[in-house]
Amino acid sequence: MAGAKNSALKLMAATVLAPGRHTLRNVPRIADVTLMAELLDRMGATVSRRSDDPDVLTIDVPDLMDPEAPYDLVEKMRASIVVLGPLLARFGEARVSVPGGDDFGNRPIDMHLRGLEDLGATFTTSHGVIEGRAERLLGARVLLEYPSVGATENLLLAAVTAKGTTVIDNAAREPEIADLAAFLTTMGAEVSGGGGSTITVEGVERLHPGEHTVVPDRIEAATYLAAVGMAGGSIAVEGARVDHMEMLLDRLSAMGLRVDDGGDRLWATAPGPTERLVSVDVSTLPYPGVATDYKPLLVALLSVADGVGILTENVFAGRFRYIPELVRMGADIRVEGHHAVVRGVEALSGAPVRAPDIRAGAALVVAGLAAEGETVVADAHHVARGYQDLVGNLARLGADVALGSAVGET
Ligand code: UD1
Repeated sequence: MAGAKNSALKLMAATVLAPGRHTLRNVPRIADVTLMAELLDRMGATVSRRSDDPDVLTIDVPDLMDPEAPYDLVEKMRASIVVLGPLLARFGEARVSVPGGDDFGNRPIDMHLRGLEDLGATFTTSHGVIEGRAERLLGARVLLEYPSVGATENLLLAAVTAKGTTVIDNAAREPEIADLAAFLTTMGAEVSGGGGSTITVEGVERLHPGEHTVVPDRIEAATYLAAVGMAGGSIAVEGARVDHMEMLLDRLSAMGLRVDDGGDRLWATAPGPTERLVSVDVSTLPYPGVATDYKPLLVALLSVADGVGILTENVFAGRFRYIPELVRMGADIRVEGHHAVVRGVEALSGAPVRAPDIRAGAALVVAGLAAEGETVVADAHHVARGYQDLVGNLARLGADVALGSAVGET
């Protein structure tokens, strides 16, 4: 498995906290990492892939930086907002463009700002830019009204050099947050509870460069499991962390995918050629619940399963934009509020479709594997934002899939 996009981007942002050379291993070769590298570069850092091992990123962070995340980058990649906390912590100021909505719908950052205010930062917004200031951040107890991943990360990144103790309550518990806490620890931070719902940070005076291996991408692993569920056969997903995917694996097993924990790999076997997956109901929730990022894959699987499955989205209200695309492929799906009612059909039929975002794009590719005839996924650049060689990997598994042309039956 490649390293997790949603961890690598935050680890890269964390390097801003300490001058010197940081080393990150297992960094996925994806477009979003390139964008984060560009953001760090514009702020004055030097980011390079090691020539003898392109999965290793070295980041040289200078003493002085331009503490600004401009609109052209924030607009392309919303995760840029996570530089706010580290810039405030290190330079006492930060300018970050206000992110707009995206294909998930409206995505506010009020919890990021309120939490940072609890640590002593002040914000003004004009001309689409948030300007933050903080003479010296002060440790405090912050109670998040919802376990937001991004808000937890921004607070953690701000708190590590704040004066005194910070306690983040109702923190997000995603494995990528534990990964960030582990990296910060290699930088000299004193963090306990990362990955749990209460994170305690003892602020330290200064940090030094860190070194870390990015946690495997659980969403990428799920994509290959879904591909096997759709197309049949079996797969070993090397390096997948079964312990990070328990709820999802429970749902996939209930659908009839056989999943075995092989220690450092995950085995999955689809039902035989004459059997179908069976429908189940699934609700997305913050970790350890079933991640919202898995949902398009689950909808694709349910669209060919036997029976009716109801998917309930509890994280991003508007995250259903790919459903009309699956319907174009013959899926029988009705959306009611934040529920999708999926009535499984015998087979999908290939069609031209459009990828609205990273995970939905991957789900359409996966759906194309099982569809009769050719499926062409337009706007495939979304997929490259989050997947290192999805097409190559699927092709190696025997799928008839190519970049720039067509995706057909296996
Ligand atoms: C991260 C992931 C994304 C994943 C999501 C939930 C990255 C780059 N992205 O996004 O892939 O789907 O976690 O697991 O890591 N909210 C507010 N106010 C805020 C912050 C969030 O209302 O200040 C709301 C959001 O609109 C959403 C919910 O909280 O409804 C969850 O958002 P959050 O956990 O913050 O997701 P992200 O960090 O944006």
